[in-house]
Amino acid sequence: MAKTKSYYYCRECGYQSSSWLGKCPECGQWNSFEQEVVQSNKTMSSSFRGVSGVPSSSPRLIQEVTYSESRRIGTNCEEFDRVLGGGIVPGSLILIGGEPGIGKSTLLLQTALSITGQKVLYVSGEESEQQIKMRADRISHNSQLCYVVSETSTQRIFEHIESLNPDIIVIDSIQTVSTESIDSSAGSISQIRECTTEFQRYAKRTGIPVLLIGHITKDGSLAGPKVMEHIVDAVLQFEGDRNYGFRILRALKNRFGSTAELGIFEMAGSGLKEVSNPSQFLLGQRDETLSGAAIAATLEGARPIFIEVQSLVSSAVYGTPQRNANGFDFRRLSMLLAVLEKRCGFKLGAKDVFLNIAGGLRVNDPAIDLAVACSILSSNVDIPISPRICMAAELGLSGEVRPVSRVEQRISEAARLGFERIFISKYSGRNLEKPRYPIDIVEISVIEEAFRKLFS
Ligand code: TYD
Ligand code: MG
Repeated sequence: MAKTKSYYYCRECGYQSSSWLGKCPECGQWNSFEQEVVQSNKTMSSSFRGVSGVPSSSPRLIQEVTYSESRRIGTNCEEFDRVLGGGIVPGSLILIGGEPGIGKSTLLLQTALSITGQKVLYVSGEESEQQIKMRADRISHNSQLCYVVSETSTQRIFEHIESLNPDIIVIDSIQTVSTESIDSSAGSISQIRECTTEFQRYAKRTGIPVLLIGHITKDGSLAGPKVMEHIVDAVLQFEGDRNYGFRILRALKNRFGSTAELGIFEMAGSGLKEVSNPSQFLLGQRDETLSGAAIAATLEGARPIFIEVQSLVSSAVYGTPQRNANGFDFRRLSMLLAVLEKRCGFKLGAKDVFLNIAGGLRVNDPAIDLAVACSILSSNVDIPISPRICMAAELGLSGEVRPVSRVEQRISEAARLGFERIFISKYSGRNLEKPRYPIDIVEISVIEEAFRKLFS
């Protein structure tokens, strides 16, 4: 007879308690506890039974443990491989998170279709086989070994796996599958945790990699508790502005690679296209005569990306001036405006300021500060900045231009992209071998200097 128990789980971190709590003792979140009825069903019927508890391994000397890098499975998608650290590691459990409609299913179906010589099983709990086929037809492919099934019970999924014997498994999505061993509904915290654990045990036992799709809540965290992130080997986040074609795949956690890598895609009518040179793509449509635009040499992870910052400064229409920032931190914009007002003497407090990062990207790299400040100044005085100038520096509260990380990499990339001049902080330039770079390096120490050099 199955035993029924009810527990309370924290929505944020998955903390378990036998009674309701107002504040989670683990993560400090208020009012985050939800009740779930958990039935531990001892009469499990699947082939999965007996996996736990059976000692399948014995301790070995670390020198005796062997592995080979070549065993990584290439996805035939350079951007995806890069984020994974060179391909899918056998036996790994990879979670791909993202907002609804961002393209998670498309990415993984495309990957499933493009992997050669491996039998892939694509399990969907959201779409029927016909719908998956319709999607696959949009993506041009010549895959011979991709199997699809619409299924939500993990026990039956494991049965399918047993009979098909695939080399790679894709689960779309972890929130829609459920295990019979517990009695709460699919998508609940205990179900997500239990199902993830089942797939993890399976992947570790058999060496077959499992790719899980996970939904993201409004505030940007993975729906379901943080425990899921602890269980899996890699957490990749798929993000981007849905109104633009750009998509970024970022590794938030990767046991087998660097988290500094990221992959860039463009959503086209026929699936996701790799973008191997994003800067050229982003800077392609620029007109020299426009004021208010400046180019920043930013780094996304380990990759230099050159983006255009656009500003519009105009007299305030209402008593309270409006400020708007797209793709840039609003508070940081307010701070930069205050610095510009103080140091450059412009009455920006009486102006509307709109800021936009072209291409719908969101930038957190502080090296964008100087370009933001200069684009605001450019719009304010209505003098354009040459599109052959780029910038990479942070601004301090007193208007000082501060150094940024990996400035050499930014300069080399600027030179490679054909820029004539790059503005950096005086302090970044100190240990730089300037003659090495075929580009004019302008070192500045305060924002006024940049203003004078650009506009007078
Ligand atoms: P989808 O992969 O279903 O998103 P998710 O699984 O993350 O919810 O992608 C949905 C969007 O992608 C949808 O709005 C349509 C668009 N899309 C294209 O633009 N081109 C394509 O070839 C495909 C398959 C989808
Ligand atoms: Mg989907």
